[in-house]
Amino acid sequence: MTAPTPFSQDSALSPAAWEQRYQAGTPRWDLGQPAPAFHALLAAGDALPPGRAIALGAGRGHDALFFAQQGFEVTAVDFAPSPIQSLREQSQAQQLSLNLLQKDIFDLTPELAGQFDYAIEHTCFCAIDPALRPAYVALVAELLVPDGELLAVFFTHQRSGGPPFGTTPTEVRQLFESHFEILTLEPVTNSIPSRQGEEHFGRLRRR
Ligand SMILES: C[S@@+](CC[C@H](N)C(=O)[O-])C[C@H]1O[C@@H](n2cnc3c(N)ncnc32)[C@H](O)[C@@H]1O
Repeated sequence: MTAPTPFSQDSALSPAAWEQRYQAGTPRWDLGQPAPAFHALLAAGDALPPGRAIALGAGRGHDALFFAQQGFEVTAVDFAPSPIQSLREQSQAQQLSLNLLQKDIFDLTPELAGQFDYAIEHTCFCAIDPALRPAYVALVAELLVPDGELLAVFFTHQRSGGPPFGTTPTEVRQLFESHFEILTLEPVTNSIPSRQGEEHFGRLRRR
């Protein structure tokens, strides 16, 4: 898949605009820690077997590093240079080996098609143009092996505008059901205080 829409230089969703947000200081979406929902998932008694995982729009990679710490073979993708550099430094400091790609997620296939057991989503779906959501669903399905899983924290806020552009559980079901079996899609109960009531955790298995 090639990027469905080339970005104009001044688009708020362009790589340059995201890079500028990182350069401007602490990005407000950056939790500085893995998403609590992923923590709970991997701490559960029936935790997932480690496998090959791709973190989409990984940012500074707190989730990507966490999955790597838990034995997953992680590829982390972001098209902005600063977060990838930060992730490189963090992974070296922690002596973790991650595959880091500074790339548009929509340029990952066909090269990486069918290469992953898991895709990790945390505020990437809500960062892209909502018009690209069907393409995002197709992309994730293409990246995964059959029966591979999307592990997602969806930002289900109801504010207008964006990014981040909110979604709803209903929209998630409508968009993903063509390619995925929805194993779990439920409100997150251990969100950080500023996101309480605004997150859903999903486990979706590729059909
Ligand atoms: C809201 S941030 C979330 C970052 C990280 N997942 C987190 O939770 O801290 C969205 C990230 O997606 C990246 N991004 C947005 N659109 C992208 C695209 N088409 N390809 C690759 N990265 C993208 C941005 O650069 C940014 O780092």
